[in-house]
Amino acid sequence: MTVPVLTFFNNKGGVGKTSLVYHLAWMLSETGQRVLACDLDPQANLSAAFLDEDRLDTLWNDHAGRAGRTVFQCVQPLLEVGDLTAPALQEITGSLGLIPGDLALSGFEDTLSGVWPDALSTSNRYRPFRILTAFWTVMQEGARLMDASVIVADVGPNLGAINRSALIATDHVIVPLGADLFSLQGLRNLGPTLRRWREEWRRRRENWPEPSFDLPGGRMEPLGYIVQQHGVRLSRPVKAYDRWVNRMPEEYARNLLGGDRRLFPPSPAEDPHCLATVRRYRSLVPMAQECRKPIFELTPADGAIGSHAAAVRDARRDFRELAARIMNAATAD
Ligand SMILES: Nc1ncnc2c1ncn2[C@@H]1O[C@H](COP(=O)(O)OP(=O)(O)O)[C@@H](O)[C@H]1O
Ligand SMILES: [Mg+2]
Repeated sequence: MTVPVLTFFNNKGGVGKTSLVYHLAWMLSETGQRVLACDLDPQANLSAAFLDEDRLDTLWNDHAGRAGRTVFQCVQPLLEVGDLTAPALQEITGSLGLIPGDLALSGFEDTLSGVWPDALSTSNRYRPFRILTAFWTVMQEGARLMDASVIVADVGPNLGAINRSALIATDHVIVPLGADLFSLQGLRNLGPTLRRWREEWRRRRENWPEPSFDLPGGRMEPLGYIVQQHGVRLSRPVKAYDRWVNRMPEEYARNLLGGDRRLFPPSPAEDPHCLATVRRYRSLVPMAQECRKPIFELTPADGAIGSHAAAVRDARRDFRELAARIMNAATAD
């Protein structure tokens, strides 16, 4: 049995992706799931949301051998002649674990690019496949260690070899979208790229019909999109916001779902592929970052009083609903 991997991905940065993964990891873990969060973005913002700087400093500067305390430390032996190291998970709560990211992970990019063609060769397939599936193997091993029911992964916004490996390891893709040209343009790159990666991975798997270890399916199924309000410039008129947002159903369907579609819902509110609209939380965001907890866990002692307290309750309700929707969609088949 493998544990499903949900990856939040868009070829556009700053759309609130990491913040979304952080909040959903918490909410899923509070609503009956056992969650393993994995930070596959070399910028490591998700890790910084979960862990304070002293803790990260200790993890990143652990040179005492192959400790497996970050995702890079797990894959690092592959850069030489070694094999993967099992992850040493960070326990956030009893039902929420983290495989921390690492700025050093960018050093794995060239290795991943280099072995991509080798997986189509007819000899010595063990090593290229071991490297290309390293993220999946490490995440599955982490899930086994904490008996996780779901894995959520955060990735950077580019279409490079690290993200290709992250996506090969992915069952379901969730696409956060900002209400702007750049997010929609990102979709036009994302759709064809996912199709190509899926197909190229299929060919590689077929090239190794009797693998020596388990391989991921490379399903990368688009589960839906999430509209992020916060990236919108406050000075922009509502009309401009509506204009971009209402193009999302068509752009998402055309680029991510393919096929011959002609009719599209006029707005995300009527689109079954829209999983949610996440509000702009303004001052709750720095408050939550300061306390190193999700917005919906803020208390009056943290400063969430009056209208803030109401916003906290709304956030709890919205994220609970989103978490349930995502799990329903992910387990629908
Ligand atoms: N719903 C939200 N309301 C207000 N600010 C947000 C919200 N989501 C994210 N942010 C802020 O926007 C910035 C970018 O978010 P982040 O999650 O790092 O995006 P990405 O991972 O897509 O680059 C961060 O400073 C974050 O705190
Ligand atoms: Mg991010």
